[in-house]
Amino acid sequence: MGAKDKKPATLLPVRARLLDGSPVILRALSSKDREDLVTGFKELSPHSAYMRFLGYKANLSDSELDHLTHQDPAEHLSIGIEFAGSGEHQGIGVARYHLDEGSDPVTAEFGVVVADRYHGLGGATLLLKHLCREARRNGICCLRGEVLETNLPMLKVLENFNPRFEPGSDEDTLVAFIPLENYQD
Ligand SMILES: CC(C)(COP(=O)(O)OP(=O)(O)OC[C@H]1O[C@@H](n2cnc3c(N)ncnc32)[C@H](O)[C@@H]1OP(=O)(O)O)[C@@H](O)C(=O)NCCC(=O)NCCS
Repeated sequence: MGAKDKKPATLLPVRARLLDGSPVILRALSSKDREDLVTGFKELSPHSAYMRFLGYKANLSDSELDHLTHQDPAEHLSIGIEFAGSGEHQGIGVARYHLDEGSDPVTAEFGVVVADRYHGLGGATLLLKHLCREARRNGICCLRGEVLETNLPMLKVLENFNPRFEPGSDEDTLVAFIPLENYQD
């Protein structure tokens, strides 16, 4: 395949709108986002952080920040959503996938989080939609994510992605599998 025919690593950045009409951009995170990620994590409510990480967590480690800000879509990708048009970045949320090494068919683990003040505006649904699209382009057949069974907002978000559920690693968690082979965005 010639350089001209090579497909771009991602279709990002993409413009979209939240449910209230606010214009937003979804884009791959870069090293410039490191400080915003640190701040965004600190601003998360303890409840949201617990739901995302299935446990209490004081901060994002340096290696987690490295991972979130360096993209290799065939292996891992982190997408941020932010308001468009404002002079400075105003982050809304982040979703990421990471390939399950050696999986066949190829699967990847995913996670998503939206800042508390922007819940219910469709941010997570947009993030997950684009995460699925990018994962599918990169040959991933299925995204899997562990969710607390009390996490009704996330279970609601997942309803739009045709998931299958299995018991999780703890008795109060479920693993959601999002099939991507026939995924239509
Ligand atoms: C779960 C989470 C990502 C949802 O983000 P969000 O941007 O609010 O989700 P959306 O706005 O796309 O909402 C999608 C659906 O959930 C519903 N919803 C959102 N917040 C809700 C709430 N607090 N209670 C009940 N339903 C809720 C919306 O009404 C919407 O329903 P619809 O599809 O029928 O219209 C967000 O609550 C979050 O960041 N939680 C903490 C981290 C987490 O739990 N991550 C998941 C584990 S990886």
